[in-house]
Amino acid sequence: MLTDEQKSRMIRSALASRQHAYAPYSNYAVGAALLTKSGTIFTGVNVENAAYPTGTCAERVAVFKAVSEGEKEFEAIVVASNNGGTPCGACRQVLSEFGLETQVIIVDSDGKLVLESTVGELLPGAFTPKDLPPK
Ligand code: THU
Repeated sequence: MLTDEQKSRMIRSALASRQHAYAPYSNYAVGAALLTKSGTIFTGVNVENAAYPTGTCAERVAVFKAVSEGEKEFEAIVVASNNGGTPCGACRQVLSEFGLETQVIIVDSDGKLVLESTVGELLPGAFTPKDLPPK
């Protein structure tokens, strides 16, 4: 469980990173802050592209930044957007790879709590590495 202090710190990080979102096409800026079990916060923003489908969500940027730095154990992710939208299906799947227990905290652009859940609750019946045959 996150302490209130950890939660506020992550919310502040997600809101601050949201300022760097590159969303000229949707005009829907998203910021994410991912806390690893080791206590590091990796932030992410959505990065759109003129070739629309090549853009990426904030949550996936945060996860990929963490994994690329050798961190794969996650405690929680905070996602901040204008209206407190929840992670898309692709982001739920990417998060599920690293644990269904990861807490998901959704806030709006004022940092107001909109939803507190877990990856497993957001993606019931997730297909995970356990579903693949042993190597
Ligand atoms: N987006 C995110 O970054 N995260 C979400 O949870 C939902 C959607 C982005 C993708 C796109 O850049 C914009 O928001 C509108 O869909």
